[in-house]
Amino acid sequence: ALVSMTEMLNKAREGKYAVGQFNINNLEWTQAILTAAQKTNAPVILGVSEGAARYMGGFKLITAMVGALIESMEITVPVAIHLDHGSSIEKCKEAIDAGFTSVMIDGSHGPFEGNVEMTKTVVEYAHARGVSVEAELGVVGGQEDDVIADGVIYADAQECKELVERTGLDCLAPALGSVHGEYAGEPNLGFAEMQEINELTGVPLVLHGGTGIPTADIQNAISRGTAKINVNTENQIAWTKMVREVLASDAKVYDPRKVIGPGKEAIVETVMGKIREFGSEGKA
Ligand code: G3H
Ligand code: ZN
Repeated sequence: ALVSMTEMLNKAREGKYAVGQFNINNLEWTQAILTAAQKTNAPVILGVSEGAARYMGGFKLITAMVGALIESMEITVPVAIHLDHGSSIEKCKEAIDAGFTSVMIDGSHGPFEGNVEMTKTVVEYAHARGVSVEAELGVVGGQEDDVIADGVIYADAQECKELVERTGLDCLAPALGSVHGEYAGEPNLGFAEMQEINELTGVPLVLHGGTGIPTADIQNAISRGTAKINVNTENQIAWTKMVREVLASDAKVYDPRKVIGPGKEAIVETVMGKIREFGSEGKA
């Protein structure tokens, strides 16, 4: 069933596990993630970046595709379609109007007051339509599509408290040292700050840049209020590795289903592994 993130994340924070957000790129990607969630009986969030939405043909096409897949694949676990790193109020509204059940308004790039205003406006529009809202503070390092950062800035705990109180958002992504894409060495996450933000805000926290974070850090984050973990690069790497192997092992293959079909299996395996690691297996 297509739902917002609110209930699944509140339950996850309470039950000390995290729901995975896995970004989609096309039909096969979506099938693979839904298959993994159904097989593990886990709630799941399909993340759609603005870049991926352009690539796939727009928000409306995506909600039609996801709705049709949930029906034809007989998916019974809770599924949210979530705009990842929404860049403006307009983009969030567009996604909501197209049937997204959740949006992220990423106002972390400008001044704090602007972030509060943008987030508040999106929350009002979203909540009137049963849609959940994620907001961000601080700077996540690395690059994901249009979201590019040259450094990492930790979220300020008092600002987190204020953003939550003034906007009524559903979940908060405080940047605390995580990076989009692969880590150069071990990630160095600010767990003390995470604990403080968890206690001050009381809302489910979101960890961006889930690729390459060691299991001990994942568990530590979950114990400090992290209820949603975003993974994108790891599926991309698994898919591409498999497709490369197929092409390298068979110079004559040209049937697209034989070339990219195995990539789908690689994503199913990767996502199932993450769901188990995050503790959301059986929590549907
Ligand atoms: O918003 C999406 C995530 O933060 C993905 O990060 O590509 O490092 O897994 P990742
Ligand atoms: Zn992100």
